[in-house]
Amino acid sequence: MDTIIESSSVGLIKPGVIEPIKVEVQNTISRDDRTTVGEAFVDDPRMTLRNVNVFYGAEQAIMDVSLDIGKRQVVAMIGPSGCGKSTFLRCINRMNDTIDGCRVTGDIKLDGEDIYHPDLDVVSLRSRIGMVFQKPNPFPKSIYDNVAYGPRIHGIATNKTDMDEIVVTSLTKAGLWNEVKDRLDQPGTGLSGGQQQRLCIARAIAVNPEIVLMDEPCSALDPIATAKIEELIDELREQYTIAIVTHSMQQAARVSQRTAYFHLGDLIEIGDTDQIFTNPRHPLTEDYITGRFG
Ligand SMILES: Nc1ncnc2c1ncn2[C@@H]1O[C@H](COP(=O)(O)OP(=O)(O)OP(=O)(O)O)[C@@H](O)[C@H]1O
Ligand SMILES: [Mg+2]
Repeated sequence: MDTIIESSSVGLIKPGVIEPIKVEVQNTISRDDRTTVGEAFVDDPRMTLRNVNVFYGAEQAIMDVSLDIGKRQVVAMIGPSGCGKSTFLRCINRMNDTIDGCRVTGDIKLDGEDIYHPDLDVVSLRSRIGMVFQKPNPFPKSIYDNVAYGPRIHGIATNKTDMDEIVVTSLTKAGLWNEVKDRLDQPGTGLSGGQQQRLCIARAIAVNPEIVLMDEPCSALDPIATAKIEELIDELREQYTIAIVTHSMQQAARVSQRTAYFHLGDLIEIGDTDQIFTNPRHPLTEDYITGRFG
């Protein structure tokens, strides 16, 4: 019997039979291939997430996602509505624990420490990994007390002088100090939407977190307030690691160094933000960033 050599690109070849063969190099990725492409891992990660699955009851919302979050960088999470961006973000500080019927499996570590370990104190974890939500949600308290709340419950400041300093520093870092310094005793809810969001950022950073998660922090803001928050994200990056969910590709391109593209619960592609937006490798990423998805 003739020896048959199998080749994926040229079909079946019989040795000795010489005929021109048209070789089609298959270097494109099929839309059906949901294996993550790109550089999911970094050399010196702050957080490692491996084989993360999330279920709401019997429905699976995140499918076996693995990636690293590096130090002092902004990772943007993009993708169509319902693809699991918020769900994935909430795994990072165990906010999914607060949702009935939500189950997370996989391995998530902060500096090598398993954040889902049964002995881990979730309240202190959430002070290390702060979160800013889509809709600004100041407490019904004064501007001062909104910022002082976290440091007070975590015992970070024990006297008025230390607390004053934390409040001033946090509001300054959040780019809000000049606008509120004469009205610290007034309610946080009386500020404009953009100011409230900066107050929430001040509140998140007042406990000196290591990581800040932001879920569409600018979606309710006008372009001027958005620009302020984006400037702020860029400054915060020098001190904190940030993961941001955004529907604005321009925003992802402006503020992040790495971008992750999600589609129906799968992490499709992850890589340098410049590469994702100029030279996406997966056709689903390309469809999305060129506006062809839908
Ligand atoms: N509390 C919940 N209970 C049940 N299913 C949920 C819950 N929250 C989200 N889901 C489902 O999980 C999937 C992912 O939702 P998620 O909110 O994470 O998407 P998203 O990418 O953040 O969308 P959007 O861009 O609209 O905010 C969706 O199918 C959604 O219906
Ligand atoms: Mg969401």
